Amino acid sequence: MLHRKSLVDHPNFIIATRDSGYKNTASALAEIVDNAIEAAATKIHIFINKIVGAGETDFEIIIMDDGMGMTEEELNLALQFGGSSRFNSRAHLGRYGMGLPNSSLSQCRRVEVTTWKKKSELITNYLDVDEIVEQKLNRLPRIRKTLYSPIPIHSKTGTIVRWSKCDRLSFKYIKSLCKHLHFTLGRIFRYSIWRGVDILVNKEKVIAFDPLFLGDGHNLTGGVPYGKELIYSVRVPNHTIMSEVRVRFVELPLNEWAGWPNEEKRRRYITKCAGVTILRAQREIDYGWFFMGDKRKENYDDWWRCEISFPSNLDEVFGVTHTKQEIKETEFMNSILAPDLEQTAKILNNRVRQKFMYLKTQQPPVFAKQQLERADVYMSSIKKKSQTEIDIKSGDKVLGLKYKIVTKGLPHELFFDVIERNETIILILNRNHLFYDRIFKALHEKRITSTIGFIRILEFVLFAAARAEFAFAGKNANEFLFEFKQKWSSHLNTIIS
Ligand SMILES: Nc1ncnc2c1ncn2[C@@H]1O[C@H](COP(=O)(O)OP(=O)(O)O)[C@@H](O)[C@H]1O
Ligand SMILES: [Mg+2]
Repeated sequence: MLHRKSLVDHPNFIIATRDSGYKNTASALAEIVDNAIEAAATKIHIFINKIVGAGETDFEIIIMDDGMGMTEEELNLALQFGGSSRFNSRAHLGRYGMGLPNSSLSQCRRVEVTTWKKKSELITNYLDVDEIVEQKLNRLPRIRKTLYSPIPIHSKTGTIVRWSKCDRLSFKYIKSLCKHLHFTLGRIFRYSIWRGVDILVNKEKVIAFDPLFLGDGHNLTGGVPYGKELIYSVRVPNHTIMSEVRVRFVELPLNEWAGWPNEEKRRRYITKCAGVTILRAQREIDYGWFFMGDKRKENYDDWWRCEISFPSNLDEVFGVTHTKQEIKETEFMNSILAPDLEQTAKILNNRVRQKFMYLKTQQPPVFAKQQLERADVYMSSIKKKSQTEIDIKSGDKVLGLKYKIVTKGLPHELFFDVIERNETIILILNRNHLFYDRIFKALHEKRITSTIGFIRILEFVLFAAARAEFAFAGKNANEFLFEFKQKWSSHLNTIIS
């Protein structure tokens, strides 16, 4: 007769569950940080060490918190798949009791938890994939009292989670891993960090990152809330109570940031970052293009952001699964959110479009205009630069010309060019030359009195040079002038790049 089988083949289950799909090391670590925050920790240290003499992938990650620690009973539950002191509780971050073992084994082959309610009474237990497979274990090892902690402890109560034999980290080098953790955790836990929780990676504080460009952090600030916050009352599945979903929109300061070099805009997470940040229990769980109905993502949409926030009792309606790193648009939530969100997205897209149009037509003021125009009469009369480019009115001698600056993307590499049209000297600044972004525009954006004084001086110099060009005429002179300006522009580019 066949033996009755255990419901789960433990060694196979453990191996299979390692693939349970954490996006990356940061989202797996976020589970451990969640637990620490739920245990009321205020300082969470993450240490990443390379084990000397070991293989290239042999990293160790230690997470230490000063939270409330665990009793023996709780520690037993902590390492058990499905074990939780709050199974299916929707009060906070945790819920399924899968977070700790699952996220740990997705990154490493051994996880040890050491915890204390009193500094003198440390208890510890572990899960080791190799042991489970080799010895076909189907039980957790026994909890041990210990005098040893992996790193010195300072808090009265707390927990240390140690991942060793890390063979599945997202990065091979400590430096890139730390960078990834700093950025991703700063963003996921921005609200906790603002509340005063310290998360440190190798002793360096994780700085918040706000994709809305509102709160303080690693990000620029300057986002401007658009409209009122939208609040939806949603029935909690299988309950009679209601919960709130909150949605807010932010416009980015396009006038100030749009002219920056593309590389800068990408580096600052302005462009290529259009979307919605999804917060579950004040913790970011996803980022993407959600609930936008038929509205497709366009480049214009880089210039606004949306934040949707819901409590964990609405998990089902947002399609949150146990790894807590993504949502799915359910039909139910779509029917509630998409109509408003799509409409607002279209309005915001349109506003961006219009701002860009305005920017294109808007030309910079000439601060030295009066002085230039008064002085013009004392300068030599102008000669036709070329027959085709300029149409001076009937070649008459014109006194007292007007002065104007326009900016354009010019096809050549000169930083400026000059033409005369309708008794106006027009200085054309090339938007494609670094001079425009780094000097001219940078100065105009900081419109403080002392800068305007400086811009005037810059205008004197530029217009004097531009005006001088008219002392030369003819095809040869034009060619020479062009070559001269080309050299000048190219040297200037080298100097300021
Ligand atoms: N850092 C910690 N401090 C205190 N208790 C913890 C800590 N980490 C885990 N626990 C305990 O272990 C249990 C299991 O954690 P986890 O597997 O993440 O499941 P969940 O968070 O869904 O409850 C938690 O319910 C909690 O009681
Ligand atoms: Mg948890």
